[in-house]
Amino acid sequence: MAAHRARRGPGAARGGGARGRVRAAPRPAAAGAGDGGRGDRGGVAARRAARRRPGRPARRDGGGAAPLRPTPPPTTPPAAAEPALVTAEPALVTAEPALVTAEPAAVAAAVPSGPAPVEVGAVLVECRNVARYFGGVRALEDVSLTVREGEIVGLVGPNGSGKTTLVSLLSGSLRPTRGSIHVAGNDLAGLPPHRVAHAGVARTYQIPRPFTSMTVRDNVAMAIMFGRSPRSLSTARRDAAGPLDVVGLGHLAGAYPDKLNLHQRQLLEIARALAADPKVLLLDEALAGLNPAEIDNAVEVIRRVHRSGVSIVIVEHLLRVVNQLATRIVVLDRGTRLADGDPREVLTDPAVVRAYLGKRAHA
Ligand SMILES: Nc1ncnc2c1ncn2[C@@H]1O[C@H](COP(=O)(O)OP(=O)(O)O)[C@@H](O)[C@H]1O
Ligand SMILES: [Mg+2]
Repeated sequence: MAAHRARRGPGAARGGGARGRVRAAPRPAAAGAGDGGRGDRGGVAARRAARRRPGRPARRDGGGAAPLRPTPPPTTPPAAAEPALVTAEPALVTAEPALVTAEPAAVAAAVPSGPAPVEVGAVLVECRNVARYFGGVRALEDVSLTVREGEIVGLVGPNGSGKTTLVSLLSGSLRPTRGSIHVAGNDLAGLPPHRVAHAGVARTYQIPRPFTSMTVRDNVAMAIMFGRSPRSLSTARRDAAGPLDVVGLGHLAGAYPDKLNLHQRQLLEIARALAADPKVLLLDEALAGLNPAEIDNAVEVIRRVHRSGVSIVIVEHLLRVVNQLATRIVVLDRGTRLADGDPREVLTDPAVVRAYLGKRAHA
């Protein structure tokens, strides 16, 4: 992990291996149901539904345990003030339309910035030639992906391109139709989701579903109690402070989830995932529906998680965010990998611009 955190000097070469190249893949012959069906889960309607129904018990990967690595205290407070504990949701709705646009001009504006290069380490996740079908729908076809220590991989692509399906495969909540997935050397074939969590993968869901009858602290404690090193309720409650501090929700530990706004619920979702002490955190549209100030805060939280030694795969349609965070970008298009490489090169790759960036993104 030390190498993971070490930053290379400005003159150091970026890339090497996959990071340095853009690999354009041929278009698929057919990719199934396209943009419809569950591909709309990340859309505005789904986010509104999430606000209307703030809590249902989540389908989880099994949670996890083991104390979180020591992390610095949060430097940025959450967007909503503590005393009020009121949601600011109506305002968020008005912020959304502008945020879901990924026009070429916005892309070009996003390209020059970007994260400082990081030292990448050992392979944590290796996904080889994976396909996943849902009946006749080819959600993914022949997709390969590696995630190394120290990386933040931005996973982007149009609505219905297979991003959530890939996240579900990597977290063990779905099985591939073909291909293999290894996490830290463990073959995920045959492993139930909670064992995948023990292997070091945690995920968040597009729609946060905390346990509404439990406090914020107990939502995290639950994930700790049933994790890889089970602990008593009192110990788990104490240890919940670690993940809650990382995401900046420590001051709301005693509140119930219905008092949290969307941003805070998404932060809670991240805290629950961190309770499993993952090596790799998969964030599926964790910033969907946030206003600009909340997005900035979420970016800081994600950086803090990364600095604590966790590699990240972030599914995000806001290219400004992906470009700020990602050390590498993978583009999916209709179930296949269209490009994989350095963010600057990928975002200016003509095949990517043609297939994805020139359209409006509603992933
Ligand atoms: N459980 C499912 N049953 C049937 N089709 C599904 C299911 N999950 C995803 N799909 C289909 O797979 C494709 C990829 O979906 P998804 O991975 O959700 O895309 P994305 O996250 O990129 O929007 C879409 O055509 C979607 O309709
Ligand atoms: Mg999705």
